[in-house]
Amino acid sequence: MPELKFSRSIVSAAAIALTGLGVFGFATITFGSAMVGETRRVDLGQKPASGIDALKALYRRPATIPFPKDNPYTPEKASLGKKLYFDTRLSVTSAQSCASCHSPGFGWGDGLAVGVGHGMNKLGRHSPTIVNAAWGAIFMWDGRLANLEEQALGPIQSPGEMNMPIEKLMERLATIPEYKPLFDVAFPGEGIKSKTLAAAIATYERIDGNEKAISEDAKRGFAVFNGKAQCSACHEGWNFTNDGFQDIGLPSADVGRGEFMPGVIKMKHAFKTPGLREIGRRSPFMHDGSIATLEQVVEHYDRGGVDRPSRSDLMKPLGLTTQEKSELVAFLNTLNSPLTPTAIPVLPR
Ligand code: HEC
Ligand code: HEC
Repeated sequence: MPELKFSRSIVSAAAIALTGLGVFGFATITFGSAMVGETRRVDLGQKPASGIDALKALYRRPATIPFPKDNPYTPEKASLGKKLYFDTRLSVTSAQSCASCHSPGFGWGDGLAVGVGHGMNKLGRHSPTIVNAAWGAIFMWDGRLANLEEQALGPIQSPGEMNMPIEKLMERLATIPEYKPLFDVAFPGEGIKSKTLAAAIATYERIDGNEKAISEDAKRGFAVFNGKAQCSACHEGWNFTNDGFQDIGLPSADVGRGEFMPGVIKMKHAFKTPGLREIGRRSPFMHDGSIATLEQVVEHYDRGGVDRPSRSDLMKPLGLTTQEKSELVAFLNTLNSPLTPTAIPVLPR
């Protein structure tokens, strides 16, 4: 599993919340010395019926991108971050960049079942999209990281991914003359260090890898999504996620969030609810990349998955008609943004 060593301390340091209020009330769980509690309220069951306009308003994309106070947006930072994001020299072999596994060509994923890192090493989990990461409340399939700044240094150092010790990376960047002025402009008085590197990459991730508004012709499938199929109970709001963790009954042995919350039955096999933007370009699906097509995803939900104590109470056979299933897939496919090519940056030499 990538980045676990790096991230453990962060998990216990952050007071992160967990989902499923409706499932086990206001439980808080002690994890080591830190408290891990609830992140997001999840309303189980169907939302009250409302007009289509009220529903649409819930899914409207926010007008502005949020940036944290300690890493505000500047165009210089974003431009530097983009170069770093696409620069294969951030990996020890100079063979892999962030974009190798989070590529605009694959909806900011990699099109593989599980990520392939250093030395063709297969990772334990599917590379998630970074689409709309600026709005993410918690990161990684098991929610072990709290923000993009913490995240960025993980894959660089992780032996299975880019395998690059951070001191060695600082030395390497110093030998690429065109980087220094870029860091100096983006971070006056700070220059090249791991903190500024992470801040630049995080800024870039917030501004690119986010997309246009939902298309207009998704109406019938949208109604199924919000109604009979109850997808919106978990994939809610404009980015189609509650940032919560649920077991949707996939037959995988990975316990996901359960690793950090062994006492909470509903967290066993629970994974972060992924947002659904760009979903049509992100196959294969799920934390283990085990489902190849959107049709099969819908079939999985229609059957309800493996019945076990940890499975979300929302997961049960849906009885969707063939027509409803194809409408649902049609709706999901409209979540792709129009194809606007991401220009690859010119890298410093
Ligand atoms: C070898 C493939 C690989 C490389 C290279 C890689 N990642 Fe990832 N990334 C993954 C995988 C796999 C996960 C999920 C791991 C997990 O949850 O256990 C992930 C998770 C993430 C997430 C969390 C997304 C979410 O919504 O939870 C972000 C953000 C991210 N990576 C950004 C980056 C950045 C920035 C870089 C470059 C510094 C990078 N990645 C390099 C494979 C990769
Ligand atoms: C109980 C909460 C819940 C409900 C209800 C739900 N989902 Fe999900 N969805 C999840 C979680 C959690 C995952 C990730 C599971 C994993 O990887 O183990 C997921 C994954 C997905 C994925 C794959 C995303 C990716 O990045 O690979 C798609 C597509 C999807 N859901 C669509 C739907 C549709 C369509 C419905 C309604 C028929 C639905 N979901 C209902 C929680 C839910």
